Amino acid sequence: MAGTQDMTLTLRRLRQNAFTRELAREVSLEQSRLIQPLFAVEGLSTPTPVPGLGETHRDTPDSLLKQVEKDLERGVQKFLLFGVPAQKSESTFSQDFTAEQVANLRKRFGTSIWLAVDVCLCSYTTHGHCGVLNAERTHVDNGKSVQALADAALAFAQAGADCVAPSDMMDGRVAAIRSRLDRAGHDYTTILSYSAKFHSRFYGPFRLAADSAPQKDKLGPDLQNRATYQIDPASPRDAYASSLRDANEGADFLMVKPALYYLDILKDLSTRIPKPWFAYEVSGEFAALELLAQNGLVDRGPAHVEAWTALFRAGASAVLSYGARHFYDWFTPGSRLAQNPPPRVGASERTLS
Ligand code: PBG
Repeated sequence: MAGTQDMTLTLRRLRQNAFTRELAREVSLEQSRLIQPLFAVEGLSTPTPVPGLGETHRDTPDSLLKQVEKDLERGVQKFLLFGVPAQKSESTFSQDFTAEQVANLRKRFGTSIWLAVDVCLCSYTTHGHCGVLNAERTHVDNGKSVQALADAALAFAQAGADCVAPSDMMDGRVAAIRSRLDRAGHDYTTILSYSAKFHSRFYGPFRLAADSAPQKDKLGPDLQNRATYQIDPASPRDAYASSLRDANEGADFLMVKPALYYLDILKDLSTRIPKPWFAYEVSGEFAALELLAQNGLVDRGPAHVEAWTALFRAGASAVLSYGARHFYDWFTPGSRLAQNPPPRVGASERTLS
């Protein structure tokens, strides 16, 4: 672009081509900062796609291992597992199915994967709430729920999880989980707290995948949704209080969820609370882009990359996204690199040390 004699250039000089733009960037995307969610479903005979979530499936124990194998070939090494048991209960929960999947993944892939396991009861309860109900079935009992959540976290740590991720929003669960893990000698297991988790309408596809929607017809007025424990979207102060509390109780990583509609929260809290902050691009916001792309209204890859860029720009140190496994398909930083994509790191090239 030489010799145009255009003396009016000021800021556009730094935007002139892909190389210059790359050097000027403040935010860079790396696959190592993306986490891929996985669903393992008990009693399922074949893997089934989740509506709206692209190549995310409800997996069988078998297809789960195959999926992770494929993901490793695509360079994904970090995962968040949701276990969906066949048996639902009111108050006594078996973690066996989920723990078994954790153990299988660990046995098969060793330390070549980082595995977080979601800790919640909504896929385990008959009514679909994230905790145990009181005897009158008018609210979610905090104390009883926290005990069940700590039991679950311990089971997952014992099965080999690197990280346990409470998403239930009960009070005091981070402290209870930390002390339960420490007493059992799992002092290196990290806790990722869904600390700024909002009462959002964007969890729809997830609830189909996790079989975890509240069973409204069987429940009273305060239990029609999760508003009595998740944070009100109009209460940013509550998100700060909740995240500060969880940090003080021993959470290692904090999270904002959903992500795109809560960028102000992410920006604000990541500067005020000195912890690594994760952003969860939830099922509904991911599906929104997928539906736009399916209708030819956006270019799929670049649209997803733009959404991720916003999250890192706002302060995320990692992003949970159903599209993590598409990173190298979607992310092509410049035209020259687009023709020569970076090599994919295969499972065999990874060291296990
Ligand atoms: C709750 C939980 C939810 C998600 C993960 N764990 C939401 C909810 O049902 O309240 C949402 C994830 C998504 O939408 O992608 N246990």
